[in-house]
Parts: sequence; structure tokens; C-alpha cells
Amino acid sequence: MRRRAFLAGLASLAAAVLAGFVALTKLNFFTEKVEEVEMSGGRRLKLPEPSYRSPISIEEAILVRRSIREYADKPVTLKQLSQILWSSQGITQRSTGFRSAPSAGATYPLEVYVVVKEGGVEALDPGVYHYLPGSHEIELVKPGDYSRDLMRAALRQEWVLEAAVNLVINAVYERTTRVYGERGYRYVYMEVGHVGQNVYLQCVSLGLACVVIGAFYDDEVKRIVGGMGEPLYIIPVGVKKEPWIR
Ligand SMILES: Cc1cc2nc3c(=O)[nH]c(=O)nc-3n(C[C@H](O)[C@H](O)[C@H](O)COP(=O)(O)O)c2cc1C
Repeated sequence: MRRRAFLAGLASLAAAVLAGFVALTKLNFFTEKVEEVEMSGGRRLKLPEPSYRSPISIEEAILVRRSIREYADKPVTLKQLSQILWSSQGITQRSTGFRSAPSAGATYPLEVYVVVKEGGVEALDPGVYHYLPGSHEIELVKPGDYSRDLMRAALRQEWVLEAAVNLVINAVYERTTRVYGERGYRYVYMEVGHVGQNVYLQCVSLGLACVVIGAFYDDEVKRIVGGMGEPLYIIPVGVKKEPWIR
């Protein structure tokens, strides 16, 4: 009798553990896979919380970082996209609104757009999205796969087409020149460099790869992306073919 009761207890414990595991899996504790993505009001999506831990040190990331122009034919996850966007312009101090990259007089002239190709991000429709640092959301600017148009606008650099996503960093110069006059332009150029390096190093930490692109037709990129400001960088991002560190 006691043995039977023990076995019954063991079976119900195993069932509870299995049910818990299934529930946690659904909550994405064990997988990064996003089952369903809903844009609130049809247009905005809250991104997963960024992580502040890394399997790689900052020194290793600086050491191995390279501009990479070939990517595995795999999507990036929404969690990885969230992390990349956070590294580019995420809020890192709520009380002040200060961000991941420095900004002259905290004028924050940069706006980050993401061109997502078909199948580029798990469970996210292709389109042009705008990153909203304050709420850590993306907002749909327009649906559709614009990666080929962007590749043509970037002098047919094929890595733009092959990347899972392309960040486009636009500058609204007046935010900085209003405070600093003509000198504000150089501050904006410096600032986009900070953002580029953050994205490079964040990619290394995530096993992703990227390259900053400055060669493109401004008017074409502006027409494709729309939104605020003038384009300064295109940054194709994809899954790295080989691990950074073996
Ligand atoms: C301002 C700037 C513009 C760049 N533009 C391009 C570009 O249009 N296309 C490209 O493939 N790489 C571009 N690069 C990447 C450089 O080619 C790359 O940084 C350089 O070859 C050194 O390699 P590394 O980044 O791996 O150290 C650019 C880099 C900078 C800083």
C-alpha cells in the first residue's frame, strides 16, 4: 500500500514538473522564440527587456570585433533586436533620460530605424520600424520588405540584402545646432560613431555580425525609410557564420 501511494505521489510530482516546464517554455524562459507578436493599436510593439550580462568580456569584444559582410541564412530573434536597439540608443538612466551613447548637451539628435526583411526577425513582419527609446518599443512606419531597395540605395552593397535587418541611423541636426550652432554638426557626426561602436560590440556579445555603411545615396535612403532627419549610417546586422571565439 505504502509503495503504491509513493508511486502515485511520484507520478503526480512528475506531471506537475512537466506542466511547469511546458508553462515556462510558453513564457519563453527556456527559448528566445517569440510565439506571437502583437503590435498594440496595430502599430507599436513593446520589446523584450534588455539583458545586462554577457558571456564575453568587453575587452574580448573589442579584441575580436570586425566588420563582417557575410551572414548565416538565419533570422535574429526579437530579444536580439531589442538588445541591439538598446545598445544603440536605449535609456540607461531613467531619472535623467540619458542613453547608452553620449550626446553633446544630451540633445539626442539621432533617430534609429530598422528595415526588417521577410523572415529577418523571428515572428516579426517585414517592414520599416522606428525605435522609441523612452518606452523601448518599435513603431511600424510602413509594412513590406525594403531590403532590396535599400541595397540598391547603398551602391548595391550585397550585405545589405543578406543581413536579417538593417539599422538606419538618421540625424535631426537642428536639435544639436540649435544649442551649439555650426559646431553642432561635428558633434552629431561624433555621436553616430559612438552608436556604431556600441552596435558592433553588442553584436559580438550576441554572436551576431555587422558592418557600418557610409556609402549610399542619401535621398534614396531617405525616401525608403521616411521618418525624421537625414541618414548617416546603414548598419546591416545578421547572424555570424562562425562563432567569434572558439
Ligand atoms: C565612416 C565609415 C564608413 C564606412 N562605410 C563602409 C561602407 O560603405 N561599406 C563597407 O562595407 N564598409 C564600410 N565601413 C567599414 C570599414 O570598411 C571598416 O571599418 C574597415 O575596413 C576596417 O575594418 P574593421 O571594421 O573590421 O576594423 C565604414 C567604416 C566607417 C568608420
